[in-house]
Amino acid sequence: MTHSIDTGDLLLAAIQAAMQAGNLLKSGYGSAFEICCKPGPHNLVTVYDSSAESIIINTIKQRFPTHAFLAEESGSSAKSASPYLWVIDPLDGTLNFANNIPLFAISIAAAHKKEIVAGVIYLPIMNELFTAEKGKGAYLNGKRLSVTTVDNLEHAVLCTGMPSDIHQHTNPYLASFARIAKEGCAIRDFGSAALNLAYLAAGRVSAYWIDSLQPWDMAAGKLLVEEAGGMVTHYDGKPHDVFSESNLLASNGRIHKTMVKELKR
Ligand code: IPD
Ligand code: CA
Ligand code: CA
Repeated sequence: MTHSIDTGDLLLAAIQAAMQAGNLLKSGYGSAFEICCKPGPHNLVTVYDSSAESIIINTIKQRFPTHAFLAEESGSSAKSASPYLWVIDPLDGTLNFANNIPLFAISIAAAHKKEIVAGVIYLPIMNELFTAEKGKGAYLNGKRLSVTTVDNLEHAVLCTGMPSDIHQHTNPYLASFARIAKEGCAIRDFGSAALNLAYLAAGRVSAYWIDSLQPWDMAAGKLLVEEAGGMVTHYDGKPHDVFSESNLLASNGRIHKTMVKELKR
């Protein structure tokens, strides 16, 4: 029988791991390093992605040696009987990192029986540490966060992520982008899913939508948004499953219905 762990202990381990990996990313940012391409356009990887991931996994393993891991660069850890799973993106926004754009993040989430119970998103260059525990709120550098109260698209600042295959064929994404833009909102693409979700939790933007994300892009961010009073679903408004590759709509809640209408049309 496994006893359940205090979410505060999970959060502390995630913070420690994120800060250590953050030091590595800070030391590498702006330096000369090799950039490799994964399959797919604009899908880059550097030595910093894998090195940061090793630091994170080793740091967490020291505290929780039996836990399971799902991480972008090393995949799923060997079968573990533990109900605890860590979902990790060691460098979200590699394209930004590789082009000296300081908008990138480390994303670490802890799940218990597939429910995300603690999450950290760390922006090393901005020195912004976003944290959340299930049922205990979301914080930025220790200060409680809440989503915006904007209730219409005309006054909203939104963010999105453009599909990487946008140049290959006419994409339904462009049609929904045009419909949403016509509502009069401002739209940004910061180039990091984790950062976008953290910004939504912090009330900097009022919604975020993207066609396809992986669990490690969104696990910590989903908890942050929900703990800041926001909502995360699929485009059709149905409950979101972070453990599938899927589209995502996150918002302050007040403009969610309107966004679902625009994305479903
Ligand atoms: C990417 C970023 C980007 C999103 C892509 C992700 P990576 O992650 O989050 O904003 O649009 O779908 O793959 O490759 O930089 O970790
Ligand atoms: Ca990512
Ligand atoms: Ca990544």
